[in-house]
Amino acid sequence: MPGNDLVNERNAWFIHDRFGLFIHWGIYASAARHEWVKNRERLTDAQYQRYFDHFDPDLYDPREWAKVAKNAGMRYAVITTKHHDGFCLWDSRLTDYKAPNTPARRDLLRPFVEAFRAEGFRIGFYHSLIDWHHPEFPVDGLHPQRDDLAFREQEKHRDIRKYAEYLHGQVRELLTEFGKIDILWLDFSYSQRDWGWSKGKGKDDWQSEKLIAMVRELQPHILINNRAEVDGDFVTPEQVQPRGWVEVNGRRVVWEACQTLNGSWGYDRDNLNWKSPDLLLRMLIDSVSKGGNLLLNVGPTARGEFDPRARGILDSIGQWMHAHGRAIYGCTQSDFPAPPDCRYTQGGDRLYLHLFAWPFRQVFLPGLKGKVAYAQFLHDASEVAVADDEDDAVVLTVPIQPPDVAVPVIELFLT
Ligand code: GLC
Repeated sequence: MPGNDLVNERNAWFIHDRFGLFIHWGIYASAARHEWVKNRERLTDAQYQRYFDHFDPDLYDPREWAKVAKNAGMRYAVITTKHHDGFCLWDSRLTDYKAPNTPARRDLLRPFVEAFRAEGFRIGFYHSLIDWHHPEFPVDGLHPQRDDLAFREQEKHRDIRKYAEYLHGQVRELLTEFGKIDILWLDFSYSQRDWGWSKGKGKDDWQSEKLIAMVRELQPHILINNRAEVDGDFVTPEQVQPRGWVEVNGRRVVWEACQTLNGSWGYDRDNLNWKSPDLLLRMLIDSVSKGGNLLLNVGPTARGEFDPRARGILDSIGQWMHAHGRAIYGCTQSDFPAPPDCRYTQGGDRLYLHLFAWPFRQVFLPGLKGKVAYAQFLHDASEVAVADDEDDAVVLTVPIQPPDVAVPVIELFLT
């Protein structure tokens, strides 16, 4: 199969499982207008403090989240331990800026890890390299106080080495106090940015090589993404559908697209750019058909729940996954060229034809003459007539009415 050379002992589960849940959760959920609100609205620490003071997720039940995610067919979950605002979900010894000091009064990460593990999920930690709260994080062009000249002047002394020590210390906590962690998702580097009065930050600032060496020592099996400016285990196209198998320097790589439900990662109440379940399913299928994964995000509310719109979408995806998971898990790109309006995914000798648009009666599959032993709809295992065509194609005959599933799939048993 294409991409077989990319599979190794550490990443085999990841490539197999294909579909994960991303969680962006922190005090920005209270603002409810994007996780970058502090940056976008240039809020000072004092102004942002109100979200810390009022964060009380009394309905938080990660067992419920895990059930919803499992039902949606997701197999791993990556949660924000800290986002760019610097707020920490766990009871870090290195800061007071953490969930136990909000009205939540507890570590919110640990119950998540336990609940998701109990449902069989692999666990990933998203951890922000950027920190707009830490007093030693040098002010730069992305910082909320970037336009405040007096503040910039007053904070000139900030020492990134002190911040890096904090960063490394926190990653050490995360990788020693929560058991086996399967993914470390660091975010993000921007060393190419230059505002004149300040430069972006990257691997020299984070001391990424040292950081990654520590991570690999603490959790040798862990998978690390590519956002610390050192080679990682997978790359992370964000809010885009790649046009083909993602390549780096002309070589195919392991990749995972991360996508939002409505364009925002953190809970964003008034943002109405919700993608339909059908679209999200097509994005999942499209990713797998190009050899990649999908990490689909939910931004829970400040009460600690999935918004009903998010919940509804995951339920619909789950309905499809219930019958079609076989065309996702363990599948990858096929060498056969898919016909128009279709995608192929393939797992061993099973080729899955995903029909994004419903054809009139016949579907021609080039290159498959003599290669299909049997064909059936996947949702109900009902036979689909298959015949050889004159050229190198086979032809499938389908009913006028599409089956009542979000994306119909025909399973082809290859000879
Ligand atoms: C970005 C954003 C961010 C989000 C992330 C997810 O780099 O800064 O808010 O967490 O991507 O991929």
